Amino acid sequence: MNATSSMGIAAAATTVRPCCRILAARLFPKCPRGAAPFPMCPRKSPSPFPKCPRRRRRPHLAPAWIRAAVAPAADAAAPGRRRLSTEEEAAAAEVREETAMEREAWGLLRGAVVRYCGSPVGTVAASDVGAFREDPLNYDQVFIRDFVPSALAFLLKGETEIVRNFLLHTLQLQSWEKTVDCYSPGQGLMPASFKVRTVPLDGSNEAFEEVLDPDFGESAIGRVAPVDSGLWWIVLLRAYGKITGDYSLQERVDVQTGIKLILNLCLSDGFDMFPTLLVTDGSCMIDRRMGIHGHPLEIQALFYSALRCSREMITVNDGSKGLIRAINNRLSALSFHIREYYWVDMPKINEIYRYKTEEYSQDATNKFNIYPDQIPSWLVDWIPEKGGYLIGNLQPAHMDFRFFSLGNLWAIVSSLTTPKQAEGILNLIEEKWDDLMGNMPLKICYPALEYEEWRIITGSDPKNTPWSYHNGGSWPTLLWQFTLACIKMGRPELARKAVALAEKRLSNDQWPEYYDTQTGRFIGKQSRLYQTWTIAGFLTSKMLLENPEMASILTCDEDLELLEGCACKLTKAGRTKCSRRLAKKQVLY
Ligand code: GLC
Repeated sequence: MNATSSMGIAAAATTVRPCCRILAARLFPKCPRGAAPFPMCPRKSPSPFPKCPRRRRRPHLAPAWIRAAVAPAADAAAPGRRRLSTEEEAAAAEVREETAMEREAWGLLRGAVVRYCGSPVGTVAASDVGAFREDPLNYDQVFIRDFVPSALAFLLKGETEIVRNFLLHTLQLQSWEKTVDCYSPGQGLMPASFKVRTVPLDGSNEAFEEVLDPDFGESAIGRVAPVDSGLWWIVLLRAYGKITGDYSLQERVDVQTGIKLILNLCLSDGFDMFPTLLVTDGSCMIDRRMGIHGHPLEIQALFYSALRCSREMITVNDGSKGLIRAINNRLSALSFHIREYYWVDMPKINEIYRYKTEEYSQDATNKFNIYPDQIPSWLVDWIPEKGGYLIGNLQPAHMDFRFFSLGNLWAIVSSLTTPKQAEGILNLIEEKWDDLMGNMPLKICYPALEYEEWRIITGSDPKNTPWSYHNGGSWPTLLWQFTLACIKMGRPELARKAVALAEKRLSNDQWPEYYDTQTGRFIGKQSRLYQTWTIAGFLTSKMLLENPEMASILTCDEDLELLEGCACKLTKAGRTKCSRRLAKKQVLY
């Protein structure tokens, strides 16, 4: 690929986005040239987080089969590496033969790989050639959240290069400058997706170059900023380090700065009183208006997970101590808040049913002034005797009682819930199997918004009609997150049952994006076929079930120290009211 002059890049950027003050080099990073493995960091000023002495880490001990699988690729890259031992070779040979369906899935996943200047950097959202003839929308782009299951499948297979490239290239796309007038994203925001474009080099029609073009929501339907992208990026960075043992990536100055920029954006002060993140509607997997503005569970669970992962990865020095303190304080407040106020089960709903309202005092039981009439009629019959779940959202005088799968599953995976609550969520899923799994795992949320609620909350969205798409549709990609939660809680049999359900249909149905109807029987009305995260989610689930110890690259255990720490500066008398004391009790609950 031809090298690009900086003048050329600047000219291209000016043509594409004339009024934005985004750095041209960030918008169009250069192709890797010569020996430099990645483009130069486009930052104008020196990094605010200087490089510090490296922490010593214990060497990573991946199981023999993984080391065996990783080694050949690494051998090719570094000729000086040692050869495999006989034991490792035997372990590699022991790997079960793939089924025809798995082979098909691998073929499709590899076919979805996107290359930038010759190197793999991600996977397209879908490879639905039929639908693309009409309009590909943005399904031909690499979505950050969609790539996570692809990355895991590749990592578990021992193919690590694509994930490393993805992590470094998306870092280059991260927003560096806060501008207001042109609706540019805030500093630290990661794009929702990016596309590799071929553009004429220096205005010539003979020479072309490839550029990475990110979308921060400025082209997305509804113009929603993807709050979850940066959180997923952090979670994936940690998983990459844990599985490959290559911690040098996360220790790089530019990567450390990237983590800190994301965290600064999340931890900055606002007007909000809650430890949860305040976001607009559609800022995550559900990227359309669905009444999830405020403090939706999905974002809180990913936020908690990203904070836990970052705490492990940030290099400790004088410059980072303040940030680590802020992370710990937020973690402890966040876990208390979610465990205490988002959790519902039969006794809790009965308590809400009997709430007094309009309580003005620090000791109010009904702190958020929830009117009992808000308890929806479906929930009265639906909530089982055994088990419970985290509600979808909590705001003043508002509890969103819908069950959102991703948030609940990720709360288990990251230990945002207590161990007892995590068990309770899986018990509820088991008890409500027909409602949540039906013919295809897994309902994105339950139940659907109907009639007036649908009209008012979705804005009469024809794509989100009841039991379709985000409004109670079934999304097979959620299978890998369910599998992860089941493995963490020692219930792999539940995940196996769900995988078996998916296995019956996915290949025949051409790997749809989502299914419709109350029981998930029909391929979704506007569902893409050959949706990459459906394919990758299936493969990741299968591989995790076969190697359950690998789940630890994504999970976090309960951290009792978090429950000890208290951020509040209350007087001795006030401290008796401090929520962290209660938090410690919760673990036993
Ligand atoms: C839809 C989904 C979103 C996904 C995108 C690409 O917009 O709502 O979560 O990232 O498609 O698959």
